[in-house]
Amino acid sequence: MKVLAIETSCDETAMALLEAEGGLRNPRFKILKNIVSSQIKIHAPWGGVVPSLAKREHIKNLPKVFDNLRLITRNRQEKVDLIAVTVGPGLEPALWAGIGFAKEIHKKYFPKAKLIGANHLEGHLYSFLLAKSLAANPKRPAANLFPAIALIVSGGHTILLKMDSLKKWEMLGETVDDAAGEAYDKAARMLGLPYPGGSEIERLARKGNPNAINFPRPMLNQKNYNFSFSGLKTAVLYYLRDNKQLTPSAGGYNKQKADVAASFQAAAIGVLVKKTLRAAEEFGARSVMLSGGVAANGALRGEMLNIKRKTGIDFFVADLKYNTDNAVMMAVAGYMQYLRGKKRPLRAQGSMRI
Ligand code: KG4
Ligand code: ZN
Repeated sequence: MKVLAIETSCDETAMALLEAEGGLRNPRFKILKNIVSSQIKIHAPWGGVVPSLAKREHIKNLPKVFDNLRLITRNRQEKVDLIAVTVGPGLEPALWAGIGFAKEIHKKYFPKAKLIGANHLEGHLYSFLLAKSLAANPKRPAANLFPAIALIVSGGHTILLKMDSLKKWEMLGETVDDAAGEAYDKAARMLGLPYPGGSEIERLARKGNPNAINFPRPMLNQKNYNFSFSGLKTAVLYYLRDNKQLTPSAGGYNKQKADVAASFQAAAIGVLVKKTLRAAEEFGARSVMLSGGVAANGALRGEMLNIKRKTGIDFFVADLKYNTDNAVMMAVAGYMQYLRGKKRPLRAQGSMRI
């Protein structure tokens, strides 16, 4: 079936069209169209996403992105069976923009299609179905990857889940304060790097020594699967306060700044990887799935691959562009939700859970 997805939960206006088949045993996807229109430049001066600006930009961009998909041309109209629109979690004004647009095109162009509300976190979670190592091997049904441990690490969430199947999972733990991506963004800001800071810290960290500063690894030794990143953030703040030559006003790049970035990253990733491995061992996982914007981080992906090498537990992660917000993952989540027969109201729910 053809699935059209619309994603506007934060600062990306995204749409995608996928061909989906295979059902709950062996879901397979062919990406036909994929557009992400980023608002980063608009929000960067504020150091974070401004909800009212995000809504305004989505309303402006949605028709443009839809036109660029070229589903409706003079002599042809693409057939669409399912429309999935993100209804949460996210910024409610931004979500409403996407929901309103989905209703409009449903009525105008695709009245026969089914229109469903989809969960952004399920989009991240299911993005492992796009992993090349899985997609390239049709003889390996996704239904055989379980039990699995899934780590979702984004700007708004840090969640560890145990998945028993493609439709059944339970949350093992989550962050009790900041999300991992949020910590990256805040540390980047303290170092004078532009927003969003995740990829900036990663780039700077490559030039630094991860063992230079022993930043705290919060909750690492607690026997639960929760995370905490605000103590790490504060430790970076104090370190910079006590080492004034490193503050943004001191300007310019120096080796010590790279050491701060590398040491911060080592602490953040260290906790994520250790807790994921511990859960995988405790629950006898056959696979580990990684998703969310922070999953675009090369060091984190590398550490996860090391687990695979050392333990034989399989590891799945989508290509970089499907880790940060996009509509391809929402089309995947929409298809999975359709197969599961789960209904969600077409109403923005900012703090929707997974
Ligand atoms: O999933 P996402 O695009 O949006 C949310 O749903 O939150 O995640 C965005 C987050 C931001 O905090 C960004 O700094 C972080 O993902 N991020 C990274 C990298 N690329 C994006 N963090 C670390 N390393 C990266 N390469
Ligand atoms: Zn996201």
